[in-house]
Amino acid sequence: MPTLATTVDGLKLPNPFVIGSGPPGTNLSVINRAFREGWGAVIAKTVSLDASKVVNVSPRYAKLLSNNGEVIGWENIELISDRPFRIWEDEFKKCKDAQPPGALIASVMEEYNKDAWTELIQRCEAVGVDAFELNFSCPHGLPERKMGAAMGQDPDILEEVCGWVAAATK
Ligand SMILES: Cc1cc2nc3c(=O)[nH]c(=O)nc-3n(C[C@H](O)[C@H](O)[C@H](O)COP(=O)(O)O)c2cc1C
Repeated sequence: MPTLATTVDGLKLPNPFVIGSGPPGTNLSVINRAFREGWGAVIAKTVSLDASKVVNVSPRYAKLLSNNGEVIGWENIELISDRPFRIWEDEFKKCKDAQPPGALIASVMEEYNKDAWTELIQRCEAVGVDAFELNFSCPHGLPERKMGAAMGQDPDILEEVCGWVAAATK
């Protein structure tokens, strides 16, 4: 019987179709909906410990124009999740307690601070998330605090932070 089931580094997925971190993983309701519709995994919207630092603007989409003024794409400046982390903890737990058919992956981001990364990883793990995606790529992820791409562009910091995460998680 053909199957789309796949295993990635020990993470078992019913199929390899994974929703990227962003609006389709912005709360429990849409995450559950993604699982109902058959996605193999959902990477939730990126979370950090202190959502009060995250101030989104509205509107936060801009048209990307070609040289002759044609719309050729969209740019977005949405930041990481502005919902309090304790709400995310509760929603991650509810999601996993309901035993969804796919994997729940937490996308996480913190400042250059070992205690903060350790706490974030351990609290997510305690409520049952299956894996982590470390957000080292967001170009507008609070660069003034050395978060996101600002961190990802520095190999030494990256090595150190990955070491903190590996030590904090099972
Ligand atoms: C409105 C919006 C919000 C996003 N938020 C996040 C986020 O919180 N964390 C993250 O890692 N990526 C975020 N992304 C990036 C997406 O995960 C994805 O990499 C990007 O949209 C490119 O994939 P696509 O071509 O399928 O849209 C966001 C993208 C959009 C459009």
